Amino acid sequence: MAQKIVAGLFGFGVVGEGLYKLIRQSGYPNVELKTIVVQDKEKKRLLPPERFNYNKDEILNDSEIELVFELISDAEEAFMIVKAALLSGKNVVTANKKMVATHLAELIELQQKTGKVLLYEAAVAGAIPVVQTVDRYLAWQNVKSIRGIFNGTSNYILTALHNGLNYQEALREAQLKGYAEADPTLDVGGYDAKFKSIILALHGFGKLYKPEEVFHAGIQCIDSHEIVWAESHNYTLKLVGNIYSTDNGVSISVLPEFVTTEDKLSKVNGVLNGVTVETSNSGSYFLEGEGAGSGPTGQAVLGDVAPVQTNSSYLYNKGVEESKPVNAVWNIYLKTDVEALLEQITFDQIFEESKYEGQHRIIGRISVSELEKLSESERKHVFIGKLPDNFLQSNKEYQANAKKDPILT
Ligand code: HSE
Repeated sequence: MAQKIVAGLFGFGVVGEGLYKLIRQSGYPNVELKTIVVQDKEKKRLLPPERFNYNKDEILNDSEIELVFELISDAEEAFMIVKAALLSGKNVVTANKKMVATHLAELIELQQKTGKVLLYEAAVAGAIPVVQTVDRYLAWQNVKSIRGIFNGTSNYILTALHNGLNYQEALREAQLKGYAEADPTLDVGGYDAKFKSIILALHGFGKLYKPEEVFHAGIQCIDSHEIVWAESHNYTLKLVGNIYSTDNGVSISVLPEFVTTEDKLSKVNGVLNGVTVETSNSGSYFLEGEGAGSGPTGQAVLGDVAPVQTNSSYLYNKGVEESKPVNAVWNIYLKTDVEALLEQITFDQIFEESKYEGQHRIIGRISVSELEKLSESERKHVFIGKLPDNFLQSNKEYQANAKKDPILT
């Protein structure tokens, strides 16, 4: 049994509270949560005010505290805390995906400099232990692709839409259940899933990407037309993070996908996350689990305590190479009610084009570099959904069966 560890906790929101309850309820014998530091003195919390401190130094300058749980939502503030904690000789466990994805290079340097352990399993796919799986168990394996549903809130909304429910209502429920970010644009805009994909790209492929250089699109513009069209073609809409090797480099992106029924991701519903990791030597792994929420994410934080106690850092065995995503070409379903935006982009090929109810829809083949010509704010007015590579073939079969377009008929 590992020795008792004295810990300090920053943040007592959804995840912090989840962690606290688990430590108390499970009687996890090896963690003493000595100090909890929060920012807002007025906020009503589960514990009485005297249990909280408001000064970071109460943890950072306490030499008895060996482990810091960093569970606040502000990414830059979180980075300052993590940096200070590592530099003052403490190990750190964090759940802050934006902070990790944005500062990966500096965080690796800090670990090398201080010899301390920094772990962040809870930052990616909630309770699914995918970072350790890819970093450690696949350390000596070539990873060909990692493809997953990494945002519980979006998946909760998309599942609700397929069940005939309303987008705003589903988002509200996801917020009430503690799945959504403080700013839910991070969820539905694809940002959160992008941060998680960037973290996995480093552990799985040794590639370091800047968030602003990775293409992402969100689910904000999806309406019942896309759901009806998807279902009539036997697809399910999912927000998918996709990282895969090509002959020219690694492709990384996050966008809605029309997922086929054979794909395991099509059955990952509600707040669940799922990830398929394809390897060279041992085929595919599929992991599924709770992707968000107090308990599952708190458990993922707690799961990092044992490796901290045995001083087990991530291996980063695939290296750390600053990279740019390759320019992939995809089959895309694009829809917008802002015609002028279509003048900015050129499709390699257009398979179908139609107008209905003030919307312009194009199904065709286009490169990521063209889609990137639409700024982030312009992309809020465009639905961009990735279709399978064999779309044309399967669509021929669809048309041969004399089915009509459900939107246009
Ligand atoms: N907002 C995130 C999600 C929380 O919905 O997946 C877990 O990272």
